[in-house]
Amino acid sequence: MAVLGCGLMGSALARRFASGGLAVTAWNRTPARAEALASGGVRPAASVEEAAREARLAVVCMSDIDAARQALRSVRGLAGSTVVNLSDGTSDDVADLERWLGEQGADLLDGATFCYPEQIGEPTAMLVFSGPSRTWEKHELILKLLGGRTRHISDDIRGAKALYLGSGAFFVTALTGFVESTACLLRRGHALEEIRDTTAYALELLRHATEEVASSIESGRHETDQATIHVFADGARKVLGEVESAGIESSVMAAVARKLDAAERAGLGHLGYSAQSLL
Ligand SMILES: NC(=O)c1ccc[n+]([C@@H]2O[C@H](COP(=O)([O-])OP(=O)(O)OC[C@H]3O[C@@H](n4cnc5c(N)ncnc54)[C@H](OP(=O)(O)O)[C@@H]3O)[C@@H](O)[C@H]2O)c1
Repeated sequence: MAVLGCGLMGSALARRFASGGLAVTAWNRTPARAEALASGGVRPAASVEEAAREARLAVVCMSDIDAARQALRSVRGLAGSTVVNLSDGTSDDVADLERWLGEQGADLLDGATFCYPEQIGEPTAMLVFSGPSRTWEKHELILKLLGGRTRHISDDIRGAKALYLGSGAFFVTALTGFVESTACLLRRGHALEEIRDTTAYALELLRHATEEVASSIESGRHETDQATIHVFADGARKVLGEVESAGIESSVMAAVARKLDAAERAGLGHLGYSAQSLL
């Protein structure tokens, strides 16, 4: 098999396939990164053509789908092979890639990596794949080497990216909000241990709150007997004042306050947090 793209993630994938007993050939645009994998039992190839032409399975992990397609263009004889794409892109990019590979006679599985390179191969690592079930079934055992929570979620090729990008909207805003919050707390003299303790509690609360919000959005019922948008909006304005007065760049918190203001102006203030979805 071939791994095309040996950045931080691609290198972890190649090492894991090799340690799982597979013969892996790897190519990277900057050759040194593929050559560095030789000690882990991965054979570096001098060209993408050399890496991929004999491979029935090529796993591509580059910065984005444009780069992946550009590299695959130079491979003659993709017909009959399966490409597994783990490069970022929109679900439309994935559909275009599937169409183009179909014209070359190759199959596509698209994937999304919900973990860091250091988790690859661990029981906790989650990767999801989409594309035709018969293609998944052919390569399932190999792809499951990548993590204990690897699974196929949809026959629709767009499925994996749609799940990844949709849930990314939560993960990255939460993490950037956490950066603002922690910088503020440290600036105000709170100890890291105290911040960790409060964060652990907030994560438990967040698990409960996200479950409530999801079922309210799904059912369309936003009444609350716990906390209204008015209460959150008042709180958000105070949080923003605190973070700004600590001299911390606070664009995530400012966006939250703006959104809650907009919900109040739209007459949703008496409803629960999930009612922002009606904006
Ligand atoms: N790192 C993570 O934690 C993580 C988690 C989830 C998903 N991902 C996704 O995995 C993909 C790779 O991420 P990474 O962390 O490995 O990034 P990275 O370390 O920056 O590596 C990027 C890779 O893409 C290659 N590349 C970029 N443009 C190219 C082009 N025009 N032609 C050929 N190769 C090109 C780079 O080659 P050079 O070495 O020659 O520059 C390198 O191999 C991204 O789509 C990323 O979003 C990463």
